[in-house]
Amino acid sequence: MLKKFLQKKIYKQITGESQFILENIPPTVNELHLKFQNIFELGIYLHIPFCRYICPYCPYNKELYHPDLIKKYTVSILKEIDYYASIAGSRPVTSFYIGGGTPTTMLNNGIETIINHLYKSFNMRCSIHIESHPNDLNYGNLNILKSVGVKYLSIGVEALQDRHLRALHRPYTTSEVKRSVERAVNMGFDCVNVDFIFALPNQTYQEIEQAGHTLVSMGVQQAATYPLFQFPYTKIGQNAIKKEPKLTLLLKRRKMLNILEHIFYNADFERSSVWAFTKAGVEKYCSVTVPLYLGLGASGGSYLNDIFFLNTFNVAEYIESIEHNKMPTALSIDLTENMQMAGWLYWRIYETRFNKKDFSRKFEIDFDSKYGRVMRFLSHIGFLKDNGQQIVLTDKGAYWLHAFEDWFSIDFISKLWGNSKNIPWPEKVVLMTDRKGN
Ligand SMILES: C[S@@+](CC[C@H](N)C(=O)[O-])C[C@H]1O[C@@H](n2cnc3c(N)ncnc32)[C@H](O)[C@@H]1O
Ligand code: SF4
Repeated sequence: MLKKFLQKKIYKQITGESQFILENIPPTVNELHLKFQNIFELGIYLHIPFCRYICPYCPYNKELYHPDLIKKYTVSILKEIDYYASIAGSRPVTSFYIGGGTPTTMLNNGIETIINHLYKSFNMRCSIHIESHPNDLNYGNLNILKSVGVKYLSIGVEALQDRHLRALHRPYTTSEVKRSVERAVNMGFDCVNVDFIFALPNQTYQEIEQAGHTLVSMGVQQAATYPLFQFPYTKIGQNAIKKEPKLTLLLKRRKMLNILEHIFYNADFERSSVWAFTKAGVEKYCSVTVPLYLGLGASGGSYLNDIFFLNTFNVAEYIESIEHNKMPTALSIDLTENMQMAGWLYWRIYETRFNKKDFSRKFEIDFDSKYGRVMRFLSHIGFLKDNGQQIVLTDKGAYWLHAFEDWFSIDFISKLWGNSKNIPWPEKVVLMTDRKGN
């Protein structure tokens, strides 16, 4: 109750709004054409919702791999590309990310067709960032990835001790996953990122230290190290693995992240986002990097200045909708200028540094006149440094500000994704309302 009350107060303070409600009102073609009149550059996110195994902790939209479904999914994506390409015209696409699920389930199985079609249909001015599963990374698949233009590859390593891999139900051993990563590193991608989860049940600080050194010794250019988040609609969330008191968990995460920070900084890595460390001089692996983007595929989300909209999460419904020439948008929300500014700040905090000028250029308002008081307070308590032009989060600030963001967003994501997973075309999803009880 108190949490909800505080969330509402803070949300109202930051955005000036008391509601956050997504509704089943997809934008029309004409509306999209109008919105694109003010868009000069965009990113593309493509969602591949298939996995060969379902992990008990995973909140993402995915289902079990099935060859028939994949064929139909490919055809639907091609049609969705045609639809948006006719609206985006020759505007440059400067960032392209393929996420999942597990995109590498579609290697030799449709993804090449999708990528080729995308590069023919849009004015693509970027290389590809893609997520992969360690078990898919044999030499044949790695060569395909290189040949289609992947330069930034992420691998879901998750843990580097067999007992934790077993607890997470990952289908490989520590030595197998190390071999996969080393194969990928030797292929010469611009950046190989590994995802690693910490603060697992019963994980010790020594194990974190050992895993941190192993991550560095494998020669990767980047490590994204997330604490285990427990989403209520996942198996782990429902079984509620031995719940630790919130503050104990926060402090344990902080100490483990501290250990990893020391190891990476000593190995010439720099912090590139709240959870990620990238080798100095390497361009980071990351999701879509430009502020405006289109999302393709089941659960693909699009953000175009004053609107955010989301495709249905249900793969069969996504396919059927496109087969009937109906766009698969399930939910949308019009964003006020205050909401757009708050969203901008949310993502810049995640990236840990930003230029105030970028804010002023985008919103035509001086950054300090909008957020100066809050920034001065955060600077005073040691969370950030403000040199007049640029804000840089300190290690302490990166952790605690993100813990604060999580306090909001895990609830929001659980509601939005949990609902969307259960109901393919929800009438609306209420994330925040001024009505009592919500
Ligand atoms: C889409 S998956 C990565 C690619 C591939 N599907 C795999 O599992 O190897 C995205 C990553 O998010 C992270 N992740 C998933 N669920 C998480 C959770 N509950 N808490 C923290 N990180 C999580 C994992 O590191 C996972 O590798
Ligand atoms: S962690 Fe990766 S493989 Fe596991 S269910 Fe999630 S997306 Fe699929």
